Amino acid sequence: MLVIRPPVSSVRGEILEIFGIKTGLLRPGEDIIEALRRGIDEAGISLRDGDVIVVSESFVATGEGRVVSLADITPSSRAISLASRYEKDPAEMELILRESDEILGGIPGVVLALKDGFLYPNAGVDHSNAPPGHVVLLPSDPKEAASRIRSALSNGARIGVIIGDSRTHPLRLGCVGVALACDGILPVEDARGRRDLYGRPLKITVKAVADNLVSAAQLVMGEGDEGIPAVVIRGAPVELSDSGPVAIPNIPPHECMYIGVLRSIPRPYTGEYDDLVRSAIDARDQAYAPYSKFRVGAAVLCRSGKIYRGANVENASSGAGICAERVAIAGAVAAGERELVALAVAGDLPRPITPCGICRQMMLEFGDMDVVMVGLDGDALMVRASELLPNAFTLPCGSRSSGSERH
Ligand code: THU
Repeated sequence: MLVIRPPVSSVRGEILEIFGIKTGLLRPGEDIIEALRRGIDEAGISLRDGDVIVVSESFVATGEGRVVSLADITPSSRAISLASRYEKDPAEMELILRESDEILGGIPGVVLALKDGFLYPNAGVDHSNAPPGHVVLLPSDPKEAASRIRSALSNGARIGVIIGDSRTHPLRLGCVGVALACDGILPVEDARGRRDLYGRPLKITVKAVADNLVSAAQLVMGEGDEGIPAVVIRGAPVELSDSGPVAIPNIPPHECMYIGVLRSIPRPYTGEYDDLVRSAIDARDQAYAPYSKFRVGAAVLCRSGKIYRGANVENASSGAGICAERVAIAGAVAAGERELVALAVAGDLPRPITPCGICRQMMLEFGDMDVVMVGLDGDALMVRASELLPNAFTLPCGSRSSGSERH
């Protein structure tokens, strides 16, 4: 048992206690509730109001039978090619693909996946605590698991349950705890309105209570052969809640500091350039696209405040065709403009279209403009030109137009 005595009085008391719950090895498909009950008994405690149980996700997943033999998996051609790029087992990569919403990239041995808005190394497909030749997947529904455990074990007490996992932070060595879902406690505490030691309003306003409790739990649980897949935390200064099981709130990738700086993700367009957007949609009427039958309209907004339109102009000799964006830019530049503030583009599609590579290079010649990509069903995304084309070509003297040149 781990006992932490905080130097100042906490909300619930002076002492935070963490009891390890030993369950022995769980066989795939075995009932975790029974195993937890036995473990809690053997720890010599009975649950009280305010206790928080942290249960490891791999224990929950094993109980759900989400243990897969790699020999049973036939990898798709995409899995085979990603496996070779990231030096992974093709069957494992197939499972990662099935488990994830999107693969963001990888390094040898690990791919980073998005699943339900969270980042998971290898989409949570894990060799540790799995029999040889097998992997454990994430629990199928951590919220449901938290709620199931809470109602089965509470026995009249007001308790909280957290399904916990572990993660590394960017550029830091070592794992910390993260919560996947919880029931009975609020996962994040909003500290807005509170002040720092000098009376200034707090900027970092949200405390990851559930994640912090999982980190504390992991001091006792370990990650290996300890056989402690759960802990009971007593005396934690947390807010209990009866509002039902919750997933941990997340923030969209484009608002995330880590993802935002490392990857250019178009953000939802929020209405800054409505005239420009309308001009781009209307400009499609002037498209000359008898070959592709795909009309594209573009419009650029210049520093002068003027808007210039363009549409794609195709040719019997296909390479002689030109995209709508470059027609619009060339029109603006030929009229004397040198600095472009924003560009909108719309194709004959319900979803937004993205400018081609040459157009991206051409845009950057005249400023790092906002680019609004418009879909005809009203969906639109916005991104900066430099985000669309990192490492654009520049001449050694760096002679991209500064805006006022008229050479
Ligand atoms: N096209 C554009 O005008 N802009 C783009 O961003 C992508 C493609 C045009 C070129 C061609 O006339 C047609 O779309 C089909 O490729």
